[in-house]
Order: sequence, then structure tokens, then C-alpha cells
Amino acid sequence: MNNMEPIAIIDSGVGGLTVAREVMRKLPLAPILYFGDNARCPYGSKPPEEIRACTFQMIEFVSAFPLQALVIACNTATAVVLEEAKNVLPYPVIGVIEPGARAALAATKNGRIGVIGTETTIRTGAYEAAIKRLSPAADVVGLACPAFVPLVERNGQHAEQARQEVSRTLSVLRDCQLDTLILGCTHYPLLAPLIQEAMGAEVQLISSAEETASELAGLIGSSPLAGEQTSPRHRFFTSGDAEHFQQIAEEWLGASIRVETQSLEGQ
Ligand code: SIN
Repeated sequence: MNNMEPIAIIDSGVGGLTVAREVMRKLPLAPILYFGDNARCPYGSKPPEEIRACTFQMIEFVSAFPLQALVIACNTATAVVLEEAKNVLPYPVIGVIEPGARAALAATKNGRIGVIGTETTIRTGAYEAAIKRLSPAADVVGLACPAFVPLVERNGQHAEQARQEVSRTLSVLRDCQLDTLILGCTHYPLLAPLIQEAMGAEVQLISSAEETASELAGLIGSSPLAGEQTSPRHRFFTSGDAEHFQQIAEEWLGASIRVETQSLEGQ
């Protein structure tokens, strides 16, 4: 494994930037190659075969570069293709579901964990299975929130309407005695203040981004080739509108970036 080579991070859109930010913090010298399939976002309401096809097209694109590792930074894609991708790719591949499940179990005191995600992520029961594998006694309550990804993709999280939408959607979870809520979609950390307000301060929000970055650092080793690289060159690709992606990315990452447009087959 060559730690000068990039770590690819793929997502249906801007959500994987929440993982990219944590990877930049944990592995500050590692170059990142990001691909967001914004043109076809959201993935969460697509049938599994389509999610698989779209995800493998992103993988094919990033695999043209020599990679250290691949992070599937989309819960929906992780739920559908992680195992297959691990089996066929020649470099390490990690998803975001196991890390999120582990972080939630470390945080919960009463064993009642909520998971919010896309329709596909919730329907596959991937979080529940990952949590139960680690702790069979845990109680897991899942809720699909299909309106949240489009909200984030249009950068609408600052509007009053977003507050109302989040509050209305999450109201069914308020009486479930949850002490921990997994943001089971990498887009959701961008809505974290609204989700926290809707759930109440006593509920701990878990984003898998930090735990995923820790797993990645453990996997590839955090030490760069000393002195050979001080500031990594990250590359950001989107299949959608580069300017729009750049606006959201710069706000979230707190840095200026350049975004390249790249279409995928059949788009
Ligand atoms: C989506 O594209 O629907 C959401 C991505 C995710 O599940 O993290």
C-alpha cells in the first residue's frame, strides 16, 4: 500500500463530504479523490439494482486512479454493495454502517437506539443487523426520512421550512425513549442542528463519519512518508453542477476547492 496514493470517497452527492472532512482531520496528509454522483442523487429511493449499477460506475471511475483505499461514504450504497465491492476490488474498501453501529453502541446508556436513513437503508435493516451482531439485546427503531437528502442537496438546510420539515418527520420518534440516534445517511450531519432541536438535547446524535475515518486510519496507518508531502492535493468530481457542489463543499469543509465535472455512463 502506498500512502501517497489517494483515498477515494464516493457518495450519491454531497453527503460524503461529512466523511471527507473527518478523513482530512484524521489523515491530514492523505490525498482524497472524491466523487459525488449529484446528477443521480438521491440513491435512497432507487431500486437496489440501480443503486448497484450507479455505485459500480463511480467505482469504475475512481479505480482508474491508483488508490490506497475506497470509502463508500453513502449508507444506501453501503447497504446494497459493500460486501460485493470488498470481494472484487484489489484495495481495502470500507463502508459507513458498521462504524456508525459501533459508535452508537459505545454511546447508548439505555440500549434504545434510533436510526434515520433513506428508504433503502431502513428497508434493508442493515443498521439493525450490524447493531444486533454486536449487541443482541439492543432495541433499534428505524425511520426513513426521504425528504432530507433532497433538502441538503439543494442547500436548503438554513431555511425555516427545513426546520419544520425535520421537526414534523422526527415527531414519531420523540416518544420512543431513545437516548441515541444514528444519522444513518451521510447527508444528515448537515442537518444536525435541526435534528438535535427536534429530538431534544438529551438524545445523542451519532454520525458515522468520525468512526469511519478512525477505521480508515487504523486500516491504512496514519503516518505519511515523512517530509515527502506537506499539503495533499485533493480532487473533487461531481456528475452534477460543479458550482453548486463547490458552494456546499466549501461551506462544509471551510476551505476553497476546485471541482471537476465528470459524467457517468447512462446519465
Ligand atoms: C441518498 O443518496 O439517498 C443518500 C445517501 C446515503 O444514504 O448516505
